[in-house]
Amino acid sequence: MNILGISGSLRAASFNTALLHAAQELAPAGMSIAIHRLHDLPLFDQDVEDQGDPEPVAALKQAIDNADGLFLACPEYNGGITGVLKNAIDWASRSGRDRHTAVLAGKIVCIAGASPGITGTVRAQDQLRLVLRRAGAQTEPLGEVLVFQAHTKIVDGRLADERTRDALARHLQSYATRLAALRG
Ligand SMILES: Cc1cc2nc3c(=O)[nH]c(=O)nc-3n(C[C@H](O)[C@H](O)[C@H](O)COP(=O)(O)O)c2cc1C
Repeated sequence: MNILGISGSLRAASFNTALLHAAQELAPAGMSIAIHRLHDLPLFDQDVEDQGDPEPVAALKQAIDNADGLFLACPEYNGGITGVLKNAIDWASRSGRDRHTAVLAGKIVCIAGASPGITGTVRAQDQLRLVLRRAGAQTEPLGEVLVFQAHTKIVDGRLADERTRDALARHLQSYATRLAALRG
């Protein structure tokens, strides 16, 4: 299973990007997670889209299209998802000039998130599920990984907390099982 991993934060020391790296380490046998960075993605502009997808947009759509599933590391800003992540979803939700089907449609998406606060991105994750559903993606229904007080668990860019590592590993295993079941 080739999974595309995306962090909703551009920050170099991002807790969510660290979570993504931990997911790479903890993915079950048979699953690999490749990280796609959003740093070059322009802001969505329908006038630009009408001229054809810019290269970073085309690359994002191609990467999503090629992947068996997505792992989204979801930060929380003001009780919702970051503009960075919403922007990527908005681009990817569009069928574009050359495609009949938007690449997010039908994708099975696994979500986790980290925040220094005590709610661990629960509000952003709820919002992310709604947005993804509108884009035709399916979100993994088997539990949540909410890394609260992330600054105590992620040290020097590494997820160090063993209980959280176990929870993330179980989350990824559930995701793998679900993907395999849907494949039949
Ligand atoms: C504009 C802004 C709004 C924020 N709002 C929230 C919030 O609603 N809930 C929360 O838990 N943390 C909030 N935070 C703190 C972020 O969770 C924190 O900056 C976190 O480190 C961002 O994720 P990252 O480490 O992956 O960049 C906010 C941060 C910023 C910059």
